[in-house]
Amino acid sequence: MVSPMYSDQFVGTPAEAVTAAIEDARSRYVAANPLSQAADEDAARHLPGGNTRSVLHFDPFPLTMVGGDGAELTDFDGHRYVDFVGEYSAALFGHSNAVIKKALHAVLDDGVTMGAPTRYERELAALLCARFPSMDQVRFCNSGTEANLMALSTARVTTGRNTLLAFNDGYHGGVIKFLGGRCALNVPFDFVLADYNDIEGTSNLIDQVSTDLAGVIVEPILGAGGNIQGNRQFLQMLREKTREVGALLIYDEVKTARLGPSGVQGMIGVEPDITTLGKFIGGGLPTGAFGGPADVMQQFNPKRKGALAHAGTFNNNVFSMAAGCAAMREIYTPERAAEFLDWSEAFRLSLNDMFASKDVPMYANGLGSMIAIHFSREPTKRPGDITPGCRSLRPLLHLELLLEGFLICSRGDLFLSLPMNDEQLSRARITLAKFADRYKPLIEQALAA
Ligand SMILES: Cc1ncc(COP(=O)(O)O)c(C=O)c1O
Repeated sequence: MVSPMYSDQFVGTPAEAVTAAIEDARSRYVAANPLSQAADEDAARHLPGGNTRSVLHFDPFPLTMVGGDGAELTDFDGHRYVDFVGEYSAALFGHSNAVIKKALHAVLDDGVTMGAPTRYERELAALLCARFPSMDQVRFCNSGTEANLMALSTARVTTGRNTLLAFNDGYHGGVIKFLGGRCALNVPFDFVLADYNDIEGTSNLIDQVSTDLAGVIVEPILGAGGNIQGNRQFLQMLREKTREVGALLIYDEVKTARLGPSGVQGMIGVEPDITTLGKFIGGGLPTGAFGGPADVMQQFNPKRKGALAHAGTFNNNVFSMAAGCAAMREIYTPERAAEFLDWSEAFRLSLNDMFASKDVPMYANGLGSMIAIHFSREPTKRPGDITPGCRSLRPLLHLELLLEGFLICSRGDLFLSLPMNDEQLSRARITLAKFADRYKPLIEQALAA
């Protein structure tokens, strides 16, 4: 049955109706955000398109933020939002955590750029190695991208081979991304690509390249590709096959490390050779890390003759190291991480109960605090299952949630953060329910087209 609201408002083909609904939401958004629009126009004078981080752009223009506290942000036009962008998972601690602020003030008092080892990096290294049993030792760098570049290079050097296997729709950083195919800016490593969660196809590809395969890099949950859980048999197969052919298995847990006390590897008990980390481990400040067994990591030991030199002016920058220590020691303890996973997973499941009760084709994919809303009745198990209709509806969901005071990522991701509370989650659920009620007929038609 077509609701009166739908037939009154939208006419034409399903695609035209979706476009019209998005245009309608955009015009309300433009009217509500004149200062952000002016800021975007001004920014475009010296930043291409007003932008220095592609993922933050969306049409007609992104909001300019002026402040945040707890799990909320305020924009230039004075609107307040519950922040489910959560800095794409890095803002796990919210925007004004007192423990992290104290650690940062101490750094300001003590001195900012030391040009030497400090007490912080060894403490953060110890905290992380205790959390991820597959890591005997770790090295820090400046971002998740850098961590993955170092992990891939380490696999090549360790094995003396060239080929690297990654997955279609995987994302490992600005120059290692396979969203919708290979990216023009990617580093010119010798990548072969398999399909995520395709056990047979991936296993065959590993056999084909076996003698030159240096490493396989995989997100245990495919993040930007739709928050799709890697199934246990798939990850187990990667573990066995890489061992069989003498390649290194790299888990990119830059996002997923926040899921429980020791990330997905701890949850499923299938361990990689190298783990890469980033995002939240610096307490919200920029950092990255890669680590693994001592025999691999000792190649970087500068006390050894012929050691690999891994440079980076800010590898141990004191702000990130100190904030990371405070965050991992005092806030995100293993107990808190386990509790947060349960709490956020209960929210995700409650969304799916709500969507099912309305029989609307929407599904909260992912796990715990990493959620992507898909327009589908079923969980999405492979990126190829995401339909054009599903993609076409994302801007509508995004804009309607913004207009209701909920920041979500433009591609439909929601990240929960520690300062969020039940009341904020309940309001978000109600808002998603309103969206489902309002647009159910449009969604169904767009998916059927
Ligand atoms: C899974 C994954 N790996 C790596 C990266 C890159 O991290 P960074 O943006 O810190 O370079 C990201 C960033 O979103 C990510 O999601």
